[in-house]
Amino acid sequence: MRVGVLTGGGDCPGLNAAIRAIVRKGVQERGFEFVGVRDGWRGALEGGIVPLDIPAVRGILPRGGTILGSSRTNPLASEDGVARVRENLEAYGVDALIAIGGEDTLGVGAVLAGEGIDVVGVPKTIDNDVAGTDYTFGFDTAVNIATEAIDRLHTTAESHTRTLVVEVMGRHAGWIALHSGIAGGANVILIPEQPFDVNQVCEWVENRFKIRYAPIVVVAEGAVPKEGQMVVKDSSLDEFGHVRLSGIGEWLAREISDRTGKEARTTVLGHIQRGGTPSAFDRWLATRFGLRAIDAVYERDFGTMVALRGTDIVRVPLSEVTVGTKGVDPALYAEFGVFFG
Ligand code: F6P
Repeated sequence: MRVGVLTGGGDCPGLNAAIRAIVRKGVQERGFEFVGVRDGWRGALEGGIVPLDIPAVRGILPRGGTILGSSRTNPLASEDGVARVRENLEAYGVDALIAIGGEDTLGVGAVLAGEGIDVVGVPKTIDNDVAGTDYTFGFDTAVNIATEAIDRLHTTAESHTRTLVVEVMGRHAGWIALHSGIAGGANVILIPEQPFDVNQVCEWVENRFKIRYAPIVVVAEGAVPKEGQMVVKDSSLDEFGHVRLSGIGEWLAREISDRTGKEARTTVLGHIQRGGTPSAFDRWLATRFGLRAIDAVYERDFGTMVALRGTDIVRVPLSEVTVGTKGVDPALYAEFGVFFG
């Protein structure tokens, strides 16, 4: 059997560990042949298919990024997309595909599986927002990077008696904000799942100053204030209602400064959260997912995704990812209210 492997969407630490596990087990235990599909679904759509063998995956375990490249190309956006993917896979003799991705990449996989293309999904993203799995790989590394940044920001915030706002990734879900904020001892954590009250944020900031500590505010990039609280002063909103030019972190720091009369500054962590060496946990999870994806292909259990449930790797229908983003449960978020302010 010839198996294609692709990585789609935003990259994350652990992708290479998954590719390595897939190829090692597939070749050594199952006698599969592999090809790499370049740049996510773009390679399947446009024919970017390259050889992938054991020598190609040597030494990649600790490397961030993906040796296969990635993109956000969606073949379903063009009318003949499914037909072109099918043609290319046939032209390169690809019998089955392992798609490693987040919501969008795996959502495409679910549609293609419905069209009779043999796909197995592997969930990844730093955002940890894929439905059907407890965790995705990439998340642990991103949380560690953000936590280290928060630790560092505490000392400089205290030296200058400033509020420091840290904007972390998470367009739709606040997992990175919540985990890194709690691990880093933040005083305010704001997530997309729960519109925040900017007056309450300022109250927490003031409380913190009263006990002579400088506040750290962690805000997910997709967090929004309650309706009517965001008066945009110098930029327009994007289609999601987020501030386009400065981002929520910049906006919030300006509001805090204006309302409290004390200086507030912003650090946007951005792609630093996605780059570099994966944590040990992400290498472990990516490896386990990769090994189990080969079992699914071997058993021809297509249209499925490997997933973590507790400590077990299970298989769930690939269509589960299409139910929507797995966000932070409000009850879980509320548990940490004791640390705010
Ligand atoms: O991978 C998901 C994610 O990290 C989001 O949190 C973030 O908004 C987005 O990627 C940024 O993606 P890009 O690098 O394509 O702008």
